[in-house]
Amino acid sequence: MSRFRTRFTAVAGALTFAAFLQPAIAAGGNRAAAAKIDSYLEANGLVCTGCHAFDYTVVGPSWISVAKKYKGKAGAVAEVAKRIAGGSSGIWGSLPMPPGQTTPAQAKKLAEMILGLDTK
Ligand code: HEC
Repeated sequence: MSRFRTRFTAVAGALTFAAFLQPAIAAGGNRAAAAKIDSYLEANGLVCTGCHAFDYTVVGPSWISVAKKYKGKAGAVAEVAKRIAGGSSGIWGSLPMPPGQTTPAQAKKLAEMILGLDTK
C-alpha cells in the first residue's frame, strides 16, 4: 500500500510538473500568445484548462487544433465564440462541452485569441 502510494505520488508529481512546464515548452512561436490566453483565463477565473490544453487533446480539442480548423474561415470568430459561451457538441467527438461557462464578451475575446494563434 505504501509502495503504491509512493509510486502514485511520484507519478502525480511528475504530471504536475509536466503540466507546469507544458505551456512554456509546447507553445514555441506561440509562447507569448499562449501565456496571454493563460493569464486571461486566470484573471477571469475560467477553468477551461481542465478540459483543454495548448497542443494536445484533454477532454476537448487543443487550442492549436481549434486554430488550425477555423483559420481563415469567414465568420469563424463569431461561430466559435457562440459555442464557447453556449456549449458545443458533435464537432470534435462524442463528448459535449457544457454551456454557460463564459459571458458572450469573454467568449469573443477567447475565440479571437485562440483563432489568432500561429498555425504554421
Ligand atoms: C468539461 C470539459 C470542458 C470545459 C471545462 C471546457 N471545454 Fe471547451 N470543449 C470541450 C469539448 C468536449 C469540446 C468538443 C465539443 C464538440 O465536439 O463540439 C470542446 C470544444 C471547444 C472549442 C471548439 C469549438 C468549435 O467551435 O469547434 C473551443 C474553442 C473551446 N471548447 C473552448 C473552451 C473554453 C474557452 C473553455 C473555458 C471557458 C472551455 N472550452 C471549457 C470540453 C470542455
